[in-house]
Order: sequence, then C-alpha cells, then structure tokens
Amino acid sequence: MFRFVREAFRDIRHTGSVWPSSPALAKAMTRGLGDLRGKRRVLEVGPGTGPFTERILRGLRDGDHFDIVELNPVFCRELERRLVAPYRKRKPRMMVALHQAAIQEAPLEGPYDLIVCGLPFNNFPPTLVRSIFRRMMALLREGGELAYFEYAGVRTIKAPLVGERGRRQLKGVQYVGESLRRRHRGKRELVLSNIPPAVATHLRKSEATPAKRAPETRKRRTAPA
Ligand SMILES: C[S@@+](CC[C@H](N)C(=O)[O-])C[C@H]1O[C@@H](n2cnc3c(N)ncnc32)[C@H](O)[C@@H]1O
Repeated sequence: MFRFVREAFRDIRHTGSVWPSSPALAKAMTRGLGDLRGKRRVLEVGPGTGPFTERILRGLRDGDHFDIVELNPVFCRELERRLVAPYRKRKPRMMVALHQAAIQEAPLEGPYDLIVCGLPFNNFPPTLVRSIFRRMMALLREGGELAYFEYAGVRTIKAPLVGERGRRQLKGVQYVGESLRRRHRGKRELVLSNIPPAVATHLRKSEATPAKRAPETRKRRTAPA
C-alpha cells in the first residue's frame, strides 16, 4: 500500500491513482476467469501492487498460462517478491511470467482467452489509448474477454481542471471507449466499493468485420460489338 502511494506521487501519469483497487473491483474485473473451461491463457496489464494479480493467481488451474506486464520496475520487484515467487514455489509447474515492459512493446504471444487491464487511460493521449487497445485486441482470441476500468465520472470531474487541450484529449479517450463498446458488445458494471467508485467494462472480441468491397467508381461499359 505504502509503495503504491509513493509511486503514485512520483509518477501519477502512469500510475493513475493514489490507492490500489479494492477486492470488490478485483472481483468484478476477474469474473471472466471462472467462466472459462479447459486450459486458459490469461494476460494482466498494469497490475501495480497486484490486487487483480492476487485474485487471478488464486483462480488458476493446472495447465493455465498467465502473463503479467508492468511498466514500473518498483512494482515489478514488489510483485515478484510478494506474489509471483511464492506462487511459483508452491506450484512449480504452473506457467506464470512477469514482464517488466510497456504493453505496446512487451514480447507476448497470443491468443489469450482473458485480458485484465488496469491502465489509467484517461491520463493518456487518445493515439496511445488506441494503439494499446489495438495491441490488446490483436492478442485476444475471437470471443475472448478484455476487462478494463475507469473511475466513475472521471472525465466530468477532470474536464474543468485540465484546459482546452486536456478536454480534447479526454473527449478522444471517451470516443475510443464508446466505439470499442459498440464494436465488441461492451458491458459496464458500477463498483461502488472502491475508492473512488469505478466502472468495470467487459468487451467480448467480435468476429472480424468482413472488409467492405470498394465501391465501383465507373460503370462498366459494354465492349463494342
Ligand atoms: C491505475 S494503476 C493500476 C494498478 C492496479 N491494477 C490496481 O487496480 O490497483 C496502473 C498501472 O499501470 C502501469 N502502466 C502504466 N502504463 C503502462 C504500460 N504502457 N504498460 C504496462 N503497464 C503500464 C503503471 O505502472 C501502474 O502500475
């Protein structure tokens, strides 16, 4: 907890909050794991000090594969020491890998059945948000689930404080979220027992939309007899 608060003050843009997520939000974000049958491939992005990681580790079964991607080396060391190393010791045959990297560049091999993402998208420019979602969607199997969250009303609260450029950025991030929800059957879930209350969004990756045929530009002329 102390480490999270310290890192938040050092780098609020990437950490995104001053408090780790609650068990209630962790439950909402990781619910999809229990619905999956057979061997499962799971990816967590931006675990911080690991409230979602802890829950995912508890839900893993033999044969599952779990990758974790975290940018901040301090959080990585803490995750390794407190959660990942003790877990590997208890279950040496389980495949759990922690990557200290940005999700845009992490050396990962999909497809995953479930991606749980804790990134603070409302702190990022829309171009970065779009490219991170593009990467995560490319790593997700068709029909797989991507869960992410944001604080309830975060854009409304931030908008008066960030100037014109910041407001344009927030609108851009909102637009990315809306189009993802439309395209991938997004479902939203309000979690009040979190500081501050949060909205978990669950996207279900839809079949690739068939490429549209290019409109014919000229009418075909009948060849002269
Ligand atoms: C809001 S914190 C979430 C922490 C935790 N999931 C929770 O809910 O308490 C966001 C985390 O994402 C990490 N992060 C930010 N940008 C990232 C990126 N591009 N790739 C991977 N991790 C990133 C930060 O270092 C931070 O640990």
